[in-house]
This record gives sequence, C-alpha cells and structure tokens, in this order.
Amino acid sequence: MKYIIGNWKMNMLPNEAINFCIEYTENVKGVNNKLILAVPFVNMFYANNFVQDTNVQIAAQNMHFENSGAYTGEISASMLKSIGVDYCIIGHSERREYFNETNEILNKKVRQAITNSITPIFCVGENLTENESGNTKEIIRVQIEEGLKDLSNFENIDNTLIVAYEPIWAIGTGKVCDSNFANEITTHIKEVVKEIYPDLNVVTLYGGSVTSLNSNEILSKENIDGVLVGGASLKADEFTKISKF
Ligand code: PGA
Repeated sequence: MKYIIGNWKMNMLPNEAINFCIEYTENVKGVNNKLILAVPFVNMFYANNFVQDTNVQIAAQNMHFENSGAYTGEISASMLKSIGVDYCIIGHSERREYFNETNEILNKKVRQAITNSITPIFCVGENLTENESGNTKEIIRVQIEEGLKDLSNFENIDNTLIVAYEPIWAIGTGKVCDSNFANEITTHIKEVVKEIYPDLNVVTLYGGSVTSLNSNEILSKENIDGVLVGGASLKADEFTKISKF
C-alpha cells in the first residue's frame, strides 16, 4: 500500500474540481493505495463531501498555528477537522520561501495539527546549491530536528507521521531526482525521526516532478512509501495512472 498524494497548489476552479472528482473517483475504484488530494480551501467542502464513501480522501495545503482568534484570512486546524479533513501539508518549500515560514512556525503548525487529530504531511528538502555541496542530509536533519521537536499526542494520528522529501530544485522543473538518491534520503529521514521518536511509524514520500512516466520506478524503492505530486495531479487521467501503482 503506497501513499499517492496530489497537491493542486493554487489551481482548479470549483467546476474543475467537481469534474476532476467525478472522473478520478470512478477511475480509482478498488485501488488499494492511500489516495489523497490536497485541494484549495474553496474546493474543500464540496470535494470532501463528494469523496465520502470512496477510497479518496481530502487534505489541506496549509493551516494556521493558532486554533482561533484575530488572524484575518487564516484557517485553523479545528475548522479543517470540523468538515472531516484528516491531513494537512505543512512546510512545503513554497510556503517556506514565499510566506517566510520558518522551522519554528512550522513546528507550531505541526503541533496544532496533531492536537486536532490532523496528520501533518511535513515537507523537507534542500535547494540546488545545498545539494551540489553535498549538504542534503544535514539540511534535512535540521529541518526535522527543529520542525518536529517536542511533539506528543501521537495517538491522535494513529502513531503515524508523514514526511515528504521534496528537493526544491526538482519541484515544477521537470528535473526528477535520481530514485536511488531519493531512497537514500528517505531512509535518512526515517532514521532521524526514529532517533527522536523511536516508536513512531514514519511514512516517507518523494515529491518533485513526479509523473506517470517515473512514478513506478520511484514507488518501487524500499524506503519510499509514496509520492507527493504537483503538476501531474491536475489531470484526472494522468493522476489515475500514478494512483494505480
Ligand atoms: P511538482 O510539485 O510535482 O509539480 O514538481 C511537487 C510539489 O510541490 O509537491
């Protein structure tokens, strides 16, 4: 069983989301993978209603670190939970880069998610310079040690944390990371998280220019438990091919 998670980012109008859900849920009937779509907030209520009684689940792409209050424009974990959302992407490199989300802020978000029984899909990854200078493992260790520190209440999320390795240089660029290297880094992620939380079940994903042409090779790797797919999750037929691994 693999995790196949689509991240629509800031794409898909409600009518497009509806059409996607109709086609995709039909296509993946009986598929025995964990199928999750991270949709924009305006599509979430409808999409989540639509996928009830199917094998598809809906995730959020972001949430605030406080549970309520004067934070104009923000969405809280308890709001997500109230409409039945069980997963949230936290720490995507686009949030880190364009919205200045630091490891400290992300740590607060992860803790708030777990408090509300929302499983974080925590993203880590290095930029090209860091990759070329051989610092990938160290960068990821710091992102994990700071972003995932002082966590508790794992029973709320079935003792399972999802961590996605998304090399920044591979996101939206068409440059897919070598699958052996990706497996080496997801192995490292499991080791580092287990050093801190030995009893936790760590699900690792790879993300960055995944398509139906490379997904099978990536998903065949021992320590890659799934994929986080951006561009290729926007077309139901393409995402179906990836989902049917
Ligand atoms: P991509 O994006 O598949 O378009 O490279 C992946 C992601 O950002 O999650």
